[in-house]
Amino acid sequence: MKDKVLETLYEKKGEYISLDSIASKLEIPVAEVQEHVTSLKNEGYTIETSSTGELKLKEDLTLLLPHKLKDSLKTNYIGKEIHYFREVDSTNEVAKKLARNGAPEGTVVIAESQRRGKGRRGKKWISPLGGAWLSIILRPNTLPINAPQLTFIAGVAAAQTIKNEYGLDAGIKWPNDVLIDDKKVCGVLTEISTEIDTIDYIVTGIGIDANIDVNLLPSELQDTTTSLKSELNQDISRMILVQKFLGNFEAMYDEFNKGNFHEILKKWRQLSKTIGRQVEIRKGTEFVRGEAIGVNSKGALILELDDGTLRKIISGECRHI
Ligand code: BTN
Repeated sequence: MKDKVLETLYEKKGEYISLDSIASKLEIPVAEVQEHVTSLKNEGYTIETSSTGELKLKEDLTLLLPHKLKDSLKTNYIGKEIHYFREVDSTNEVAKKLARNGAPEGTVVIAESQRRGKGRRGKKWISPLGGAWLSIILRPNTLPINAPQLTFIAGVAAAQTIKNEYGLDAGIKWPNDVLIDDKKVCGVLTEISTEIDTIDYIVTGIGIDANIDVNLLPSELQDTTTSLKSELNQDISRMILVQKFLGNFEAMYDEFNKGNFHEILKKWRQLSKTIGRQVEIRKGTEFVRGEAIGVNSKGALILELDDGTLRKIISGECRHI
């Protein structure tokens, strides 16, 4: 019903409408309309009230408002339900809560900015206005042991989207950081909740530095980070970026569910910026150096060490050297 209130305000496009008219149109009590309006305001919509108590939705065309996102979204289930916030601690945290409460597969949580964006390995993810910060709830019918394979999907979908839409040379650093010319433009954080031998839910969080001014980021990140805006010298439409990304993501997730992980790996290999490079992998306090010679059928990185032995790396922090 909240979406219907939003739609009614949206249809009036910049004109005032009374609470009574909304209530009679939707056949609900005025108090309920008021409740939905309050909750829309909390989600970040700017709804002005006139001196006579009428309401007007003020549109900001650059915001990732869910009804606009859904407009040209070409997916079957990813993003059918969208939870939008102007600001939130972390979209992954919101998504995990929704998932625990039974939110359906494909639910997307999106925020204009995050106060406590989470990166991998407990790092902070700086998430100012201008980025695309979102999380997707998934409930794949596969064994928990296969969950790491899923983390590849978001990286491949993001790199493909950036390459196809903007013609930039985006590639992937193992396992799923998206780089442009060795600078990171997108990160993926997957969180999993399992029962004994089933996956309860997976939340895949994606952060894309879209319209971010890199020189406004903390100085320690500036040399290693880029954004679509810095690469293209102009703002991009985050709406199109997110719609295309979700479309690519769903297509690949469908492949995964059909048991075609090898198709995703094929794409990953084509986009890889790690294979053929000297890398250093950090796993806790252990460091391993070698040449990345490939990824196996499960997505593990194969390193050839200096003495010629091969080492399979299932997880760890990868640095190109
Ligand atoms: C990394 O490369 O360290 C992963 C970064 C993941 C960031 C995204 S932004 C949306 C989602 N919400 C979070 O708190 N983190 C992920």
